Amino acid sequence: MRLIFELSGEDTKLAKAEVFSLFHDYKVLFDLGMILGLEVSMDLDEGGDRDPKVEDLRLLAMTHCVSEILGESDDIKEDIIESAKKISIEKRPLSVRCRKVKDCKIRSGEVERAVGEIFYQKGFKIDLREPKIEIKIIICGERAFIARKICDCDKKFLRRNPMEMPFFYPGVLNPKLARVLVNLCGLKKGERLLDPMCGSGGILIEGVSRGLEVFGVDVRGRMVEGAFKNLRFSAFKGYNLMVGDSRNLCFKDRSMDGIVVDMPYGQSSPIIGKSARELYYRSMEEIFRIFKKRCVVVAREDLSEIAEIIGFRSIERYDQRVHRSLTRKILVLS
Ligand SMILES: C[S@@+](CC[C@H](N)C(=O)[O-])C[C@H]1O[C@@H](n2cnc3c(N)ncnc32)[C@H](O)[C@@H]1O
Repeated sequence: MRLIFELSGEDTKLAKAEVFSLFHDYKVLFDLGMILGLEVSMDLDEGGDRDPKVEDLRLLAMTHCVSEILGESDDIKEDIIESAKKISIEKRPLSVRCRKVKDCKIRSGEVERAVGEIFYQKGFKIDLREPKIEIKIIICGERAFIARKICDCDKKFLRRNPMEMPFFYPGVLNPKLARVLVNLCGLKKGERLLDPMCGSGGILIEGVSRGLEVFGVDVRGRMVEGAFKNLRFSAFKGYNLMVGDSRNLCFKDRSMDGIVVDMPYGQSSPIIGKSARELYYRSMEEIFRIFKKRCVVVAREDLSEIAEIIGFRSIERYDQRVHRSLTRKILVLS
């Protein structure tokens, strides 16, 4: 099926990576900056073992909305109407909304009314309050897409304000980035996620909230206690915490489906090791030994050279600028 993703626009590269990590097989149909079109294998009702389900789409942190493409045309009202005429879907009450992603001459209200009229003539009831089908006309650049909304992505998790948790410390990851990182790891419900430098537990909370079995380790007992308080406060189940050193972990080889880690930056989160490089190198060796599917490693330095030496086959890199003196380097490794 053909899907259209309306990205939130703050970091389109990372937003796309998050979308791609959902699918084992996809083809990019178009990439218009904040609008991404993919051909994917996905069954909305069932969802195969390897295919994502609608609940997985909802977890995209940097996407507003996902829809199925029903028609496509130039951004000319008459062409959009012609395209709408060819659409064949089950007759249920529907609404039509138009969104212009980039400025263009076309008037949204006019297009909504004209396309609504086409569906009305086909025998559809128009219901703007409680539609069973939401038709979206997305106009971007010189193209227009008619799509059927599958879901809005969840934004409730953004209310998880780290400052309102029982334990707060300044090095905490914000919930949005925690969700992006866990998404990049591409795990399915019930799989095992390890954060070997868990701090106050931001990554772990994201993991348990979506039904992963999570394991958190931190070298400082105070942090493990804090993570425990935060996890208990979040009221999700399925977490295991322990004090330990990421350079020498107690887990068996390939015992974790995924590993997500936010390495210390050496300011509010101290580096416990002989040097930063020694900590990174030895922790990465342990991560390589323990992971099964994919790892996501965040650090203030680019660790791709270390990842290569250790033996990771696939290395993707993303930068996330935090402020003038800190750009996070995110590696997705397998
Ligand atoms: C950037 S913080 C992690 C923040 C965490 N993601 C959060 O949301 O709170 C890095 C953590 O690594 C821990 N750490 C430093 N050296 C370590 C080591 N050798 N083994 C395990 N944890 C270590 C620090 O205590 C700190 O809590």
